[in-house]
Amino acid sequence: MNCMGTVSAVQEDAGILDRIRQLESEYLLQNYARYPIVLQRGKGCYAYDVSGKRYLDFIAGIGVNALGHAHPRIVKAVRSQAALILHTSNLYYHEYQGPLAQRLARISGLHRTFFSNSGTEAMEGALKMVRSHGRKISADKIEIIALHNSFHGRTFGALSITGQEKYRRDFEPLLAGARFTAANDISALEQIVTERTAGIVIEWIQGEGGICPISTEFARKARELADRYDALLVFDEIQCGVGRVGKHFAYQLSEPIVLPDIMVAAKPLACGIPMGVIVANERAAQSIGSGMHGSTFGGGPLACRVAIEFMDILDPLLPHIDKMGCYFRAKLQELQKQFAFIREVRGQGLMIGVELSFPGKQLVLDAMEQGLLINSTHETVLRFLPPYITTEKEIDRAIRILKRVFKLAAKRADVHPN
Ligand SMILES: Cc1ncc(COP(=O)(O)O)c(C=O)c1O
Repeated sequence: MNCMGTVSAVQEDAGILDRIRQLESEYLLQNYARYPIVLQRGKGCYAYDVSGKRYLDFIAGIGVNALGHAHPRIVKAVRSQAALILHTSNLYYHEYQGPLAQRLARISGLHRTFFSNSGTEAMEGALKMVRSHGRKISADKIEIIALHNSFHGRTFGALSITGQEKYRRDFEPLLAGARFTAANDISALEQIVTERTAGIVIEWIQGEGGICPISTEFARKARELADRYDALLVFDEIQCGVGRVGKHFAYQLSEPIVLPDIMVAAKPLACGIPMGVIVANERAAQSIGSGMHGSTFGGGPLACRVAIEFMDILDPLLPHIDKMGCYFRAKLQELQKQFAFIREVRGQGLMIGVELSFPGKQLVLDAMEQGLLINSTHETVLRFLPPYITTEKEIDRAIRILKRVFKLAAKRADVHPN
């Protein structure tokens, strides 16, 4: 048998997963720790792997697949736009940026939009606005205040204001001027914000940090300090925004609403077509003039058209998101009474975290085995970001699976206490 024959025989024997794994281990940067399934298609709240096994998808591509998989209106919009024009660049106009930006202005209470391709890229643009705003006032007004335990993305600027050492340490030195303070500590915030502060950046609910909400009083104080020191207040709504909490944006949970100067959003905006946005009020928008920022792909006709379609579907869905979130959390709280290792059930709308007294990784694998996709964040928090179209029936199914998974974990805890 020749060498090629041996290789192909081996490959035929190996499963699709093994073959894909092997190729990826040879040719991809080894930065991802993937779960061992190969997803091939989806329908509604379910995803299917290459063997045809069905999974209830309650992580939804980390909050991206807000309308689940293969939503008929999204499929139709993608097909129709693909047959017309996919990319124009920003050298020319197309029909969809203006209407989408108008829509974003109406739902956000802010005014001007810039389109990017990802969350981190939206954050980079927002940081440039903050820097440019500060420098117009004074050369040393360059500080950006961010929170411990935050996550704002993987590019250099976003990483510089990410308050978790594990993401930052290999890349230092990072952007000068980033300073961190504790979330929800109002007196610490009052001390750290000064004349040198150009911006304050806050996730309304810290997602990667373990589904940890920021208090309205803290956000209101940040607003007050930003005004006092002529700094820009930036809300990172990349994970908690665009309907996830049952409002268009999480800051709209506050009463009266604490408005930022700049808001960045991404994940669900174009239902899986990459898109991020910066939406700013007029004051913040002044910081970016002609030629100061741009993107080749940002705001393409495909992403914008799909986002408009999504917005049409989202508006009437918001009360449903809130209702399903309450239902899901109540069911999880019932489980909490049965399993002592569940420390807390947190979240808003369909952004939910279950804090355990031990790392959640094995439970994520057990759930996957039983046909439920979730993930764990901040080591001990099970994270649920189900599609907005989820129903009580699917939530009940998730709860049944989780109960089995928790029972297994309880047995393991018997064998290995702590
Ligand atoms: C709050 C927050 N900000 C920024 C980002 C970065 O977004 P992206 O991965 O699209 O660059 C994320 C991603 O998870 C996020 O959750």
